[in-house]
Amino acid sequence: MHSTHRPSSVPRQPSSRGQPGRSEVLANSVAAHISLAPAWLLVILVLADGPMARAGHRHASALQTLSFPVAVQDTLSGHVLWPAQGAARRNASVSQLSTPLNHNLFIPRAVWRPETFPIGSPRLWYTMARQRGGTRRLARLPALVPVPADNPTTPARVALGKMLFFDPRLSGDNRLSCASCHRPDKAFTDGLVASPGAGGKRLTRNTPSCLNVGYYGNLFWDGRATSLEQQALAPLRSTAEMNQPLAELEIELNRLPGYVAAFQQAFNRPPDRQGVARALAAFQRTLVTGPSPFVRFLRGDKTAISADAQAGFELFRGEAGCIRCHHGPLLSDGKFYRLGVSFRDAGRAQVSGHRKDRFRFRTPSLHQIAETGPYMHDGSMKTLEDVVTFYYRGIPDNGPDGLPPDTKALRGQSFSEIPLLIAFLKSLTGKAPTVSPPRLP
Ligand code: HEC
Ligand code: HEC
Repeated sequence: MHSTHRPSSVPRQPSSRGQPGRSEVLANSVAAHISLAPAWLLVILVLADGPMARAGHRHASALQTLSFPVAVQDTLSGHVLWPAQGAARRNASVSQLSTPLNHNLFIPRAVWRPETFPIGSPRLWYTMARQRGGTRRLARLPALVPVPADNPTTPARVALGKMLFFDPRLSGDNRLSCASCHRPDKAFTDGLVASPGAGGKRLTRNTPSCLNVGYYGNLFWDGRATSLEQQALAPLRSTAEMNQPLAELEIELNRLPGYVAAFQQAFNRPPDRQGVARALAAFQRTLVTGPSPFVRFLRGDKTAISADAQAGFELFRGEAGCIRCHHGPLLSDGKFYRLGVSFRDAGRAQVSGHRKDRFRFRTPSLHQIAETGPYMHDGSMKTLEDVVTFYYRGIPDNGPDGLPPDTKALRGQSFSEIPLLIAFLKSLTGKAPTVSPPRLP
């Protein structure tokens, strides 16, 4: 199995300048990375929300997607930067890429780093560097969701994770499921400023979406979890959220034959907390959105977004400087900033213990942003207009501790730009997977 599923070699693209460049060196290291990967990395299957019967087909496309690093090489050479399919058209050696990329497969972390998926020509980067946005790059979501080595995504784990996600028996009083707050019909948020948690008591932070969470390095507004496996048990345990002691949960699940069978199939052992965490993580890794109009625009369809949205994009990466923090595939750099939205929640400082991190929160992704209001860590901004207006005039000069926020209000910019930025933000909504509640055991 080891050798049959591994491609004999990763095709290399000759450097177009006739000499080995940075791109080739990188490609070689990528190729080495790939050939070192155990075979299971290459055959991981993830079923989005589709019938299991398509597993075989997905398997085939998984192997085709292996030529992906070649497109990275091409990308880094600075010639063809967007999208991978564009590279395929120009380069026979990566012709396999012309098959649609599967959104749900593994790619090593080193390969999908935002820096490796730049868009635009080198000249565009220089132009951008001169503007306020700096040299930050945008990118599409990588075709493959990163998966930790100890939790390969399998159809059985995804199916189990989905049941757990929707099961209110996971909470202490059997009333709340993950899906009560992360509702599939509301882009996996609940549209509330703050959700009612255990006993109906409101939480203090706004519920973020679970869409595309598989791509985040830091989870939660303060980044206190660094993997979905680690994240999953937090709301269960939290007395404010689901208030479910894990030992009790294990006993409950072991009493339900349907779950015992599902855990057996997914993990080859009876229900336990680690399995719960892994299954929930595996399910959430399938919650990936399709290309938004903006992504189609970047791929060359100039009519995919309105003229206003295009002007908004120019502001976003130029004078308004949003791209400084909102960049990379998620339109988030995954780092923590103090914007001065409010000074009640210490944010990142609760995790790091550093005074300088007080009131800092993780830059959120902007995918599907039109559907995930209200906004900000405390849900204090109802509309996108509130958010953009805040960036233009609302950011305070100083916090109560005398320290300034990490960015300044755009006082020199005109209010007339606000609708343009909003039009751009609205172009970031792609097709979300349709997830309907499964039958519970
Ligand atoms: C009572 C409402 C509620 C329930 C129930 C709930 N969540 Fe959440 N979820 C939240 C809130 C609020 C946050 C943000 C908390 C924070 O950042 O401190 C969050 C954050 C998350 C995140 C991080 C998203 C990001 O952008 O970093 C994930 C993933 C997540 N929840 C998944 C789950 C899963 C899985 C379950 C079920 C085991 C669950 N949630 C149950 C309200 C809820
Ligand atoms: C200094 C980094 C930084 C810059 C520059 C920046 N943002 Fe943000 N953005 C953040 C952080 C951090 C948050 C979350 C803040 C909070 O909740 O307190 C955020 C939140 C948002 C949200 C709400 C997301 C949600 O899910 O609630 C939107 C929309 C947004 N930013 C758009 C923009 C736009 C448009 C610009 C340019 C005008 C911009 N950002 C500039 C870091 C930044």
